Amino acid sequence: MQLNSLHDLLVEQLQDLHSAETQLVEALPKLAGAASHEELRDAFEQHLAETREHVSRLEEIFSQLGKTPGGETCKGMEGLIAEGEEVLQMQGDPTVIDAALIAAAQRVEHYEIAGYGTVKTLAGHLDLGDAEDLLGTTLDEESKADSLLTKIATGGTFKSGINQEAKA
Ligand SMILES: [Fe+2]
Repeated sequence: MQLNSLHDLLVEQLQDLHSAETQLVEALPKLAGAASHEELRDAFEQHLAETREHVSRLEEIFSQLGKTPGGETCKGMEGLIAEGEEVLQMQGDPTVIDAALIAAAQRVEHYEIAGYGTVKTLAGHLDLGDAEDLLGTTLDEESKADSLLTKIATGGTFKSGINQEAKA
């Protein structure tokens, strides 16, 4: 692939994200299936619905740009999902397993937050306001998914989180 302009780079980065998101659509049901706490299972299922939406938003941007999403495999996401799938093979205390699933999922969210931060910034530089807005919406959802996982791990005023429970 030729990278001669910021626009080329934006398209390349979007293709990488499209691969990442489609891989995640396949992986999230497995993480949800392995979670013991209902709250965590619900969070994974909710994020699965959002992730499908993230794929659609990327496809909308590709059509706006007159490009196609295919071609790239996001190796970073492949590795992160492989690590998450290692947790699925592990046995032990279900609450500790849930804490391990959160650890794997938060790595994924941070990776996506980095990717969307980049493409949103590039779209802004290129005066692609519609794309910038769509990418900003997804970026917010990735951040919220990450915060929700932190909350499930650490608890709140009225309940202890998975980490405290795992310590007991
Ligand atoms: Fe996403």
